[in-house]
Amino acid sequence: MSQLETIRTAADYLRARLPEAPEFALVLGSGLGGLADRIENPVYIPYGEVPGFPLSTAPGHAGQFVAGRLAGRAVLCMQGRFHYYEGHDMAAIALPVRVIKALGCRALILTNAAGGVNYDFSVGDFMLITDHINFMGANPLRGANEEEIGPRFCDMSRVYDADLQKTARTVATEKDLTLREGVYLGYMGPSYETPAEIRAFRTLGADAVGMSTVPEAIAASHCGLPVLALSLITNMAAGMTGKRLSGEEVIEIANRRGPVFQDLVEGIVAALA
Ligand code: HPA
Repeated sequence: MSQLETIRTAADYLRARLPEAPEFALVLGSGLGGLADRIENPVYIPYGEVPGFPLSTAPGHAGQFVAGRLAGRAVLCMQGRFHYYEGHDMAAIALPVRVIKALGCRALILTNAAGGVNYDFSVGDFMLITDHINFMGANPLRGANEEEIGPRFCDMSRVYDADLQKTARTVATEKDLTLREGVYLGYMGPSYETPAEIRAFRTLGADAVGMSTVPEAIAASHCGLPVLALSLITNMAAGMTGKRLSGEEVIEIANRRGPVFQDLVEGIVAALA
């Protein structure tokens, strides 16, 4: 099957099961999964039921679409995402984004848990991603290009939509939440970085580091889907404190700050033009 056929088959399947056409799509990272519980009249579609979709295996990630109304808006949420470190190829990570575009969504909100690289940040902070560095050593656009999806050489100068960023800033201010801003560096994982890597990444201009989001943002840019991306800083990156890093700590902080992060994202959805 061509990429285009795979996208259309998955989109047709979802369209038949969705209560209405979604206006916005969200990828719920660690700590944000609970946002799906705020959806009115939710319809759950496990990824495994969607033709062409792989299964998600990462801990803390449920692996299903949740569709319905959030803050009065028709949304399609991904509760759990596909990570490169799980062994999925980049095409599998790009597929849901392309399906979201095919379903007619007007914007994609990407969220994640990330390590703070910028010394001004603290654990529990929220960061608006203003740009990224792809340090994953792979690109979802590698291989044959289908012009109907997007161009062979895709501009990456404005991945993170200026209007969406403005909305996020306004909502954070209204909610009296500090919204940090910065560059997210995508790292392949699944090992965390070494202190030397974190020092190098800071020199390169990174403010936060994580193992997701970049492939999805590239795929979204390629197919012309505006992106807003937000990080929850669950830990300071390797070597920045005396502490060692653990996945449990990341999940604990994600769960603790999750409800406030969810308030912010729900507020943004409510305020979207
Ligand atoms: N590094 C990479 N990914 C992460 C981190 C980190 O420190 N924290 C949460 N996700």
